[in-house]
Amino acid sequence: MEEQKKWWKEAVVYQIYPRSFKDSNGDGIGDLRGILEKLDYLSYLGIDVIWMSPIFQSPNHDNGYDISDYQGIMDEFGTMEDFRLLLKESHKRGIKIILDLVVNHTSDEHPWFIKSREEKENPYWDYYIWKPAKNGKEPNNWGAWFGGSAWEYDENRKKYYFHQFSPHQPDLNWKNPKVREEIFAMMRWWLEQGIDGFRMDVINMISKTEDYSDGALKGLYGDLSPYCMNGPQVHEYLREMHEKVLCRYDIMTIGEAMEAGVEEAKKYAGAARKELNMVFQLEHLDMGRGQYGKWNDKPVNLKELKEIFGKWQEELKGTGWNSLCWSNHDQPRAVSRFGDDGTYWEASAKMLATCLHMMRGTPFIYQGEEIGMTNAGFQKLEDYRDVESLQAYQELVEEAGVSHGAMMEYLKLKSRDNARTPMQWNEERQAGFTEGSPWIPVIGSYPEINVHKQRSEESSILNYYRRLIALRREKPVIVYGDFHMLLKESESVFAYERKLDGVKLTVVCNFTTQETPCGLVSETASILISNYQDRASGILRPYEAVVYEEQCKGGRL
Ligand code: GLC
Ligand code: CA
Repeated sequence: MEEQKKWWKEAVVYQIYPRSFKDSNGDGIGDLRGILEKLDYLSYLGIDVIWMSPIFQSPNHDNGYDISDYQGIMDEFGTMEDFRLLLKESHKRGIKIILDLVVNHTSDEHPWFIKSREEKENPYWDYYIWKPAKNGKEPNNWGAWFGGSAWEYDENRKKYYFHQFSPHQPDLNWKNPKVREEIFAMMRWWLEQGIDGFRMDVINMISKTEDYSDGALKGLYGDLSPYCMNGPQVHEYLREMHEKVLCRYDIMTIGEAMEAGVEEAKKYAGAARKELNMVFQLEHLDMGRGQYGKWNDKPVNLKELKEIFGKWQEELKGTGWNSLCWSNHDQPRAVSRFGDDGTYWEASAKMLATCLHMMRGTPFIYQGEEIGMTNAGFQKLEDYRDVESLQAYQELVEEAGVSHGAMMEYLKLKSRDNARTPMQWNEERQAGFTEGSPWIPVIGSYPEINVHKQRSEESSILNYYRRLIALRREKPVIVYGDFHMLLKESESVFAYERKLDGVKLTVVCNFTTQETPCGLVSETASILISNYQDRASGILRPYEAVVYEEQCKGGRL
């Protein structure tokens, strides 16, 4: 079946974490004017869309994912004027902007919540999820994602409110039609400002079951996932959102869908279903969970990684569209996790980029990935800022008996702060991020790993990303070609084919530090792009990636 052409399928998205991108006024916090200063850099990189993590008013318990005013810009980030200018200047350069829509919950300082917790009954009482105590305790055993119970007692209302994340992030009650109307009105308001779409935060968690019974024990608390993920009305709500808001604009919509499998994704992003354009499948990023969830030091299993990607690539064919990413603001750095941030840093960063950008779907680059930024490597607990990391430390070390040393290792590998250190612009102080002192430390590698240096080196990771992005415009097969996984059984090589109208690409990536014999290595086929200067014969060198292109005159392959 011919794939429908859409701009958001052809686009490359660049995710900005505004707090850590560029500080324009020396207070140590990135801001909108900082992003404005760097628009020419983003044009040079060649991306089409910017997704900004939340820029709205927030007390910042979770760096903006706790919103207290959806229609106001966070003071530290600037003003609405700054935002309008940024949007105008981006559009001038042909770059679109999508915003983060965080509507599973608000901040506990949002006026709706302040009203909701008042003693006296009022229209906001039912905007959140309130339950009476059960036998003098929490309504059930559910644990929050950031540790502790998912219920918080409120003295005024003498009831508990529900929060899947921190107690400063109470969940909205989507069952209440007034809540939905408020959210839809807010979304229309932003779209009328001219924005180009939304990335929807944990959107598959907005509908909860009626059943508030205890969950299966997972550590100290019960698992709330079966009750809150992909809940009974979630598709109904999204179709309502589509009908009342989304369908009126030519926009990009992408839903974050934790723990949603392919079958669920087909519902969220099925072309015919009128919900979203695509979801973030995070299955490959969730790989390797253990007794303490993501907190462990298990290495990446390449076969499992390939199975996950292969499944999503093949099963969404004809019904939905994939998003492609190695990392984001919630994940460790791609090169540190899936590549090698030591000897083969450069080769492995380029290999990962090749492997991802040649698959079928819309690629997302997380800020700094294009220069191969690595994990933070913080040695001290005091360097961490992230609510999830700090809560996990407390719970695992102080309550579950994990040793300090082990936990510090897990944080080094998995903490969200690994991806939140300041963007490395140049070799000057604080990596050119700020004239002041940054809200979170700049990492020590910046004299080697920075934008300024890589702009001037032809063979840099940055210039490699630019070539990959440019190729996407030149070769429709990269966007619309069929995908077919090769060498499924290999534990070291990730290989696949793409085919469209008589053009075939063969993508071959070595995920190891070893030389690996590989039958797909061709001595004659023309090379579209590769991370080694000279041609391989018979073997793939450490982290080598090659894309071969073959034509088949006048016919199908
Ligand atoms: C999403 C965000 C994450 C945030 C959480 C709660 O997973 O990506 O950063 O902490 O939702 O809003
Ligand atoms: Ca600032």
